[in-house]
Amino acid sequence: MPNEAYLDQSVHWKIRSGQLGFAEPTHPEVAEAILEGGLATEVGQRLGSGKEADVYLCRDGPRLIVVKVYRQYRTAHRGGRPIKLESMGQRALIELDLLTYAWQGGARVPAPGRRVENMFSMQYLGTTEAVAPMLQHARLEDPEAFLESTVAGVEALAEAGIVHSDLSPFNILVHEGEPWFIDLAAGIRVDRLGSPAWVRLNEAMRALESGGRALHRYFQRYGLSLDTADLVARVQTKIDLFRVH
Ligand SMILES: Nc1ncnc2c1ncn2[C@@H]1O[C@H](COP(=O)(O)OP(=O)(O)OP(=O)(O)O)[C@@H](O)[C@H]1O
Ligand SMILES: [Mg+2]
Repeated sequence: MPNEAYLDQSVHWKIRSGQLGFAEPTHPEVAEAILEGGLATEVGQRLGSGKEADVYLCRDGPRLIVVKVYRQYRTAHRGGRPIKLESMGQRALIELDLLTYAWQGGARVPAPGRRVENMFSMQYLGTTEAVAPMLQHARLEDPEAFLESTVAGVEALAEAGIVHSDLSPFNILVHEGEPWFIDLAAGIRVDRLGSPAWVRLNEAMRALESGGRALHRYFQRYGLSLDTADLVARVQTKIDLFRVH
């Protein structure tokens, strides 16, 4: 399908009118886009910055929320056509879809909000004083219990039909003493298998093994270990419940 077909009309207009450039937007520009899109009523500080997206703390009326903004243009993709913009809208759509799916399935993920172009809103994890820390930077009071809830959380995601393909102490936030899973961008749906079932499941299990190892390395700092094979086996049991293979 041609890229243009997906482009929101307003974006088309901005491109034609020269309002969109090829430089990364500055904070005020991103803030304006968030406000203009009606995702928030106030835009605050940037909470995090990853490979492809930035996350902003915002206010929607009285509520604190966050907005994840996929960056539109990166050097490698600069060209004469707005192809990057399009794919970033797609990425936001995919992540919000997976997040919604996980949330509806009862997994501990931020409640999904809305998407506008390359941005989407979701529940803010944290208090009015401080944002929930990444597991990597948190100080756990009861690491053993937390390890257990992390494994249970991964199982709950699988039960909702998703394997998080980028599990790490950077993509788990510690909120109200519990693990919350974020950054579902590359999550793998394991309930409805578009490609041959074993391909998708193998991919999911490989991702899970590598995530399990990352978490194992993390929990070692507390003298604990996470058995990756056991994690994979547990998740497989959950998936088996759906009789997908
Ligand atoms: N719902 C949320 N509540 C509070 N803070 C959040 C929330 N979502 C993300 N953050 C903060 O923003 C940071 C980046 O978020 P996330 O991991 O989703 O994006 P990313 O790593 O930039 O994405 P990508 O890897 O796709 O480029 C997180 O580490 C966290 O500190
Ligand atoms: Mg991340």
